[in-house]
Amino acid sequence: MSGNPYQDDRGNKDRTITKAGGGTMDTATGTDHVMNTANAFLIGDSMTGGYGKTGPDILHDCTIAVNKGEIAVIVGPNGAGKSTAMKATFGMLHLREGSVRLDGQDITNLSPQARVAQGMGFVPQTSNIFTSMTVEENLEMGAFIRTDDFRDTMAQVYDLFPILKEKRNQAAGELSGGQRQQVAVGRALMTQPKVLLLDEPTAGVSPIVMDELFDRIIEVARTGISILMVEQNARQALEIADKGYVLVQGANAHTGTGKELLADPDVRQSFLGG
Ligand SMILES: Nc1ncnc2c1ncn2[C@@H]1O[C@H](COP(=O)(O)OP(=O)(O)O)[C@@H](O)[C@H]1O
Ligand SMILES: [Mg+2]
Repeated sequence: MSGNPYQDDRGNKDRTITKAGGGTMDTATGTDHVMNTANAFLIGDSMTGGYGKTGPDILHDCTIAVNKGEIAVIVGPNGAGKSTAMKATFGMLHLREGSVRLDGQDITNLSPQARVAQGMGFVPQTSNIFTSMTVEENLEMGAFIRTDDFRDTMAQVYDLFPILKEKRNQAAGELSGGQRQQVAVGRALMTQPKVLLLDEPTAGVSPIVMDELFDRIIEVARTGISILMVEQNARQALEIADKGYVLVQGANAHTGTGKELLADPDVRQSFLGG
């Protein structure tokens, strides 16, 4: 492939992210939501469904995916269904149509717990830590499915987020917003996931703390863990994204590399403030 759009200056650059046999461009929209999905490590494929068995559909043929060791970012207006798409991919929603595949296996009918055992970690948008428990207890809770010795993993989490080691005996609810998000991500890392789903990991933090969190997320991706993340800081998130999805009203509106979306006039005007 010449003029490879992946060979850019994005942060997460030490992976081979061009896959042979990547999909074709959807010239109608200038974006491409089939690109690479055949090789995706995790894919919520053509998902249609809503809350409960009888609730209205929130997702309409919605596809989100991430390749091994890459960062995929989902952006879009409030109420677009970003969190719903994440929950659906994690098995918290009944899908009327579509499927979820992890590493080539169909996991559509697995419970969230079973998906954790298969290598998925999920950090929800809200209530993602136990505020009255200490930082360390939160990490221990994160290791709930493990029967082996998880002290090495805890040490890795403390290496990634040194402030958590310092505050390990403090109640997590006493920490700053950015530190709480570190607890939430650290908790999810305790099961040694292969793919991490993060719903607005930088919500409510300052720009400096956001940058630091993004740096840590890039660091996690470089260890080979795939990151599928919803972000309201769309521009900054797309800058570190291998792949980006813009969702509108439960459907895919734009898909491309982070760089493509940042350069797309429609995306810029409608979602990035010009
Ligand atoms: N638990 C729920 N039960 C019913 N409807 C919900 C629930 N959570 C979200 N919704 C609805 O789903 C739509 C998408 O919400 P959400 O996925 O949270 O959007 P986003 O994360 O993009 O802001 C909204 O119309 C919202 O009201
Ligand atoms: Mg949300």
